[in-house]
Amino acid sequence: MEKIQNITQSVQEELEAFNKLYSEALRHSTHNFRFMLDFVSKKNGKRIRPLILILSAKLCGKCMPETLQYAVILELLHTATLVHDDVVDNTMERRGQPSVMAQFDNRKAVLLGDYLLSQAIMRGVNTGNLLILRILSDLAQNLVEGELVQLVSSSKIMLNEEVYFEVIWKKTASLFASCSELGALSANADKEQRKILWAIGKNLGICFQIRDDIFDYFEQGDIGKPTGNDIREGKITLPLIYALRISPPERSEAMMRLIREQNFSPTTIKCLIDFAKEYKGIEYAQAKMQKIKGETIQLLNFFPDSEAKNALADMIDYVIEREK
Ligand code: IPE
Ligand code: IPE
Ligand code: MG
Ligand code: MG
Repeated sequence: MEKIQNITQSVQEELEAFNKLYSEALRHSTHNFRFMLDFVSKKNGKRIRPLILILSAKLCGKCMPETLQYAVILELLHTATLVHDDVVDNTMERRGQPSVMAQFDNRKAVLLGDYLLSQAIMRGVNTGNLLILRILSDLAQNLVEGELVQLVSSSKIMLNEEVYFEVIWKKTASLFASCSELGALSANADKEQRKILWAIGKNLGICFQIRDDIFDYFEQGDIGKPTGNDIREGKITLPLIYALRISPPERSEAMMRLIREQNFSPTTIKCLIDFAKEYKGIEYAQAKMQKIKGETIQLLNFFPDSEAKNALADMIDYVIEREK
């Protein structure tokens, strides 16, 4: 059986309760933009973030009503960033259907993303818990900063591996870290448990994004969104960053010229992808994930053995090996 099915099965009941709450959160019968919300709810994502949140709560105690509330808030925030991200990246497909911006238009997608974001904030306020609001506002800032740095930085800056890790921490891993931290908080974990779970979430998110970036170097599989897009949008990711660093200067300079010219025809894209593969960029990215996996297992071992601990260990394998 697939790793993700094992994981899902271990929290089947909680996930069903989450799904019910989440679809209620998207239901909004009084508004005439309901058709847009219906469109968004038609296709579910993989629910990785709610899974991590629920498992983190169970690792520290049990899944509480707050656990599911926080999961709804973070999934709303996640969906808002996807709707906005597809505008920024000019992406036509999401979750195996047209993206919101392709189905409607950019203006509607920006506003719908804002609406989802405001729903998340409102639910945060309704918790009456200032700590939750602090975590949510730090998170919102990180998410926007990650996307902005990626968008406005020159290709030279984005070629720096440190900058790459900073961007993926902010745009993706900060959300995963908030999931595991809020999961811990919802189960009344102590400070140390919270800190460790935050780090586990961060590691999961970093690996999740590295794996996502690797997808872009291969023909489209069954991932429900287009591949080959990153380079076309001038986005340089880990395999290519590494290849540019270790290849002989004459090769890397020729590739840099292609990148600087920003004229990304299918031939140019193929040339850059082949170059990254030739210099073992994919293997390098995979080795990075294996190293982070080792650190994450050590962090998990702070907790006594339990079903949730096993499921989180499976989650690390899943984010590294996933095919969609
Ligand atoms: C997509 O996240 C955005 C990235 C961080 C790469 P997911 O792949 O988890 O999106 P859904 O929710 O399953 O569609
Ligand atoms: C993912 O951005 C992170 C977000 C903040 C949405 P990407 O642009 O790398 O991810 P996909 O490939 O569109 O899902
Ligand atoms: Mg993007
Ligand atoms: Mg994108």
